[in-house]
Parts: sequence; structure tokens; C-alpha cells
Amino acid sequence: MSDFLICGGTPLEGSIQIHGAKNAALPILAASVLHQGVSVLENMPDLKDIETMLRILKELGTEVKTEENHKGRAVFVDTSGMTKPRVPSHLVKEVRSSIFLIGPILATLGQVDIEFPGGCEIGKRPIDLHLKGLRALGAEITEEDGLIHAAAKELIGTEILLDYPSVGATENIMMAAVKAKGTTVIRNAAREPEIVDLERYLHRMGAKISGAGTDTVTIQGTAFLRKHVKHTIMADRIVAGTMLAAGAITGGEVMVKGAEEETLLPVLKCLTQAGCQIKTENEGLFLSAKNRILRKIPHLVTLPYPGFPTDMQPQICTFLSLCQGRSTVEETIFENRFEYSKELNKMGANIKIRENTAVIEGVEALRGARVKAKDLRGGAALVLAGLAAEGMTTVEEIKHIERGYERLERMLKNLGANIERVGRITERSGNE
Ligand code: EPZ
Repeated sequence: MSDFLICGGTPLEGSIQIHGAKNAALPILAASVLHQGVSVLENMPDLKDIETMLRILKELGTEVKTEENHKGRAVFVDTSGMTKPRVPSHLVKEVRSSIFLIGPILATLGQVDIEFPGGCEIGKRPIDLHLKGLRALGAEITEEDGLIHAAAKELIGTEILLDYPSVGATENIMMAAVKAKGTTVIRNAAREPEIVDLERYLHRMGAKISGAGTDTVTIQGTAFLRKHVKHTIMADRIVAGTMLAAGAITGGEVMVKGAEEETLLPVLKCLTQAGCQIKTENEGLFLSAKNRILRKIPHLVTLPYPGFPTDMQPQICTFLSLCQGRSTVEETIFENRFEYSKELNKMGANIKIRENTAVIEGVEALRGARVKAKDLRGGAALVLAGLAAEGMTTVEEIKHIERGYERLERMLKNLGANIERVGRITERSGNE
């Protein structure tokens, strides 16, 4: 078990290269099953969820190799030997994104068995829209004792209207439809940039898809997919947004490299509105909060893309806890995404949760404390608070943070932060 030990108060300065996007890499790894060939995936982030997904692919009969090269980490996945339609239960529990495998395995092997990937700290995370879409394509799906069995001799393209623009459901249906007979049109599709990156990868595989990034995605089924595909994973816009927020909350100046400005517009708008200076330069996105008065945002709402991203809600609320005045932030995507606010209030923040809205009264300063990460983005938010707080902060349970940030302490140290990763002596057996 490890913690982050942070001595706050240093304005961050410097530039940081953003690693590959977890939420693009996970569906793309699932999609590699479709062509039963070799995929070379560059800029693959080194994260716990990615490692678990690679272990699942190996247990399904896939060959996996990783290597470091000038573009960072590359992963070679050879799915030609994948024959098992059973996703290992113990690994499904570790990474709920294994649900992305239903569509591709069903489309490739004609059947798939996988455990229901329960909820998580931020919400129930149902998958009804995934299953409804796959049934519309002709899959026979039974659910018994927590196990999903899906089968289809052949998937048939059709028109699917999503009740809600679910990112995962859009991706799962897209992948299943790649090898269906005929054309599939997904309406009210999610528009997140990670879906566009999945489409780019599938295009390279020879899939006939258009419309990713809009609310209508059209997939023309094909039996002919290329056996060798190379793709570079897009940069992680949420990690980029988190690093910009770190510069903002510490009153520093940071240059964030690699992320597309287009994918961050609502976050950039929000930080500018609060008083930060943001410039788009050749090198990347530059943010300065040096000697700037930072002020409230009267009302912010998290929405499906291109709205303000829910995955940046904890980080922006933490930043607003030190901005003058009252801000309110409404969370419309997940039902339990304010857990971190209790820990922030231990550090002197003044955040009250009314139903699904945080009412944030800006305070002069936060003070260091021992706090506990309870989920991925809430944990990252506590690190930001520690960077800005007076004195020492210990953030426990950083395993949550490591699911989505590659060596966060190293990234922050490169920007001058005073942060160490320490093992926690536990009663049982010393350092675990
Ligand atoms: C993806 O989750 C991301 N994860 C999440 O990132 C992100 O917060 C979310 O999209 C929204 O942008 C990955 O891509 C691996 P949804 P996903 O389906 O696909 C409800 C992070 O921090 N819903 O768009 O699960 C659901 O309950 C993570 O990196 C149904 O009701 O998101 C939620 O309220 C957290 N039925 C809403 O839709 C369904 O079948 C959005 O979920 C599916 C979803």
C-alpha cells in the first residue's frame, strides 16, 4: 500500500508531455480481437487498468509484448490465436472496462461469457444500453447468477437509437457492428474524442465507419479486415486537464504538451473564466495563474461531450475551493462523484453537497492533512489540494490514482512539486 506525501505551497513551473489516453486505449485493446491479427499500439499508457486488460487478452489466447521506443511504450497484440470466449471472472472485477470485450468477441467467435462488471465508487454503472444494442444486432443474451452469455451465428446491421449517449455502449455497438451483415446506424451516439480515436484504429483495420465524434455513427459490416494494424493512442485529455488544474491551483505556469486543444475546450474555457491566462502555442497548451486573482464560476454543469467532462469535475471543484466567491458545480453523469469533498473539507475547504450539486465557498487557504483517495479522479483532486495546501498532506490509497495517471508523482516533480511516493507501514507485515 503506498501513499503520496506532499509538501504544498510551491507554484508549479515547467512543461510536461501527456501520456496516452486510458479511455482510448481500453476500447482499442478490446477491438484488437476483431481482426485476429497483429496490432502495434504506440503511446500506450503504463497503467494498472491497461495491464489488467492485457492479462485478460493473454488469458483469452492472445500474445502480448511490450517495448519502450522513442514514442514511449508500444504494445504488440497478436489476437490470431484467440479461441476462448470466456472472459476470466477475477479480472473482470479488476477492470470494469473489460465489458468492451463483449462486442468484439461476440462478433469474432459468435459467443461470449463474461461476468457482470458491477458498479464502482462513483456509481452503479449499469450496462443495459450495451446489451440492448447487441440484442438489436441479433445477439441472444441471457443473464444468470451474475454471468452474461451472449451468442449470435451472425450479427445483422440495424438502426439503434441510444436512450442516452453512453460512451461505452457506443463503442461496444460500433465494434460489434464492424463484422455484422449490412449497415448499422447508431443514433444519439456519444461524441467523446476517445470514440474518434477508436474509429481511427478501426479504419486502419479496414472497417467501414463514419461519424464518430458526432451523434450519428454509421458502420458498414465487412468480412475483410487487415491482419496488421499500427496505431498511436491519442493523448489523455483528462490527464492534460488535471495538469493544467495543478498549475492553476498552485498559482504557477505550466506548458502541457501532446493533448489536442480541441478535446479540452470546455476545460480551457472554465479555467479562463476563473481568471487563468491560457495560450495555445506550437509546443502545447500554456496556462499561467501567476499573480492572478482567481474567481468563482457561478454555475458549471458536467455533460456528455462536448460539454464539461465529468472526469474533470473533482479537479475543477478543488481548484474552485480556493477561488474567491461562491461556485456551484452540478454533476449530471454519475450519482456518487463528490466523495472526495469530505476529504477536502478536512483540509479547510468549504464544500456543501446539495443533491447532485456542490456549493463551493472559496477559502483563503487549505491546510495539509491526512486524506484518503476513494476513486480515480477524486484521488487526483486530493493531490491537487495537497500541492496548494499549507504544510504536509498525505494522500492514502493511491492505487485508485494509479489506474489513470502514469507515475503522477514523477510528472508533478518535473513541474517542481514537492511530492514523494511512500510505502505505508501496516500493522500486519510492514511495507506491502
Ligand atoms: C466512460 O465510462 C469513461 N470510461 C469514464 O471515465 C467517463 O466518466 C464516462 O465514459 C463518461 O464520459 C472509459 O471510457 C473506460 P457512460 P462509461 O456509459 O462508458 C449511464 C474515468 O475516470 N449508463 O457514458 O461507463 C451510466 O450509469 C472514467 O476515466 C447507463 O445507464 O460511461 C452513467 O450514469 C470514469 N446504461 C452514464 O450513463 C448503460 O448501459 C454515463 O455512462 C451505460 C451507461
